[in-house]
Amino acid sequence: MKSSGQGGACPMVWASMSLSEEHPMNSTQETLISRRSIFSFRDQPVERTLLEDAFEAARHAPCHKQTHPWKFYLMGEQTRLLLIPGVDKIVRQKNSEATPDLIERARQKILESPELIAVTSRKSPGNAFTEEEDYAATVCALHNLVLSLWSRGVGAQWSTGAITRDPVVYEALGISEHEERVIGFIRVGYPEEVPRREKKALEEIRFYLP
Ligand SMILES: Cc1cc2nc3c(=O)[nH]c(=O)nc-3n(C[C@H](O)[C@H](O)[C@H](O)COP(=O)(O)O)c2cc1C
Repeated sequence: MKSSGQGGACPMVWASMSLSEEHPMNSTQETLISRRSIFSFRDQPVERTLLEDAFEAARHAPCHKQTHPWKFYLMGEQTRLLLIPGVDKIVRQKNSEATPDLIERARQKILESPELIAVTSRKSPGNAFTEEEDYAATVCALHNLVLSLWSRGVGAQWSTGAITRDPVVYEALGISEHEERVIGFIRVGYPEEVPRREKKALEEIRFYLP
């Protein structure tokens, strides 16, 4: 696995994070610290058992009042193809002189991701606080899923690009905008490259008060 950029995961963590066929479990702390968003994936599907383990981890996320507001839609080829008219429209709206090459690249982000998951959170019209708590719980579930995959050598990237909010997504998933909100897509696959990211120093974010 290649690694790029500045700062980020320590090599010791990566030494124990082999992406071998054995899908080794690493320690929780290593998983949390070494996780990075992955933007380029190997052309290799993710085993269904690993996906199922990740959905199982998501299912156990905390949520207030046991609302379990999350849903995960793993989009196959047919469903992804339904998104393409929306992708084309968004690219042309952003750039009226979009070249066929630019449009093709936007399409491939949807079509070439080894796995693509839409994550939704339950809406609560008229109850903004419940909806906010439910959104928070869905993010916990989403991150449980991401971390479960990462602990097995599988990468993910959360995307909130315009396509994730387009009506075409609700049509493709067969869901109602009044009942569920798509909070993003998760691109999932074996990493081609693991970026490095600078994070804030502990001293900047943690304060022990008397
Ligand atoms: C709510 C949320 C939305 C995101 N949306 C996008 C996105 O639309 N496009 C993208 O390239 N990355 C997106 N990301 C990934 C971030 O770019 C990434 O988390 C950030 O660069 C930090 O890197 P790390 O995840 O490796 O720590 C999103 C992350 C979060 C938490």
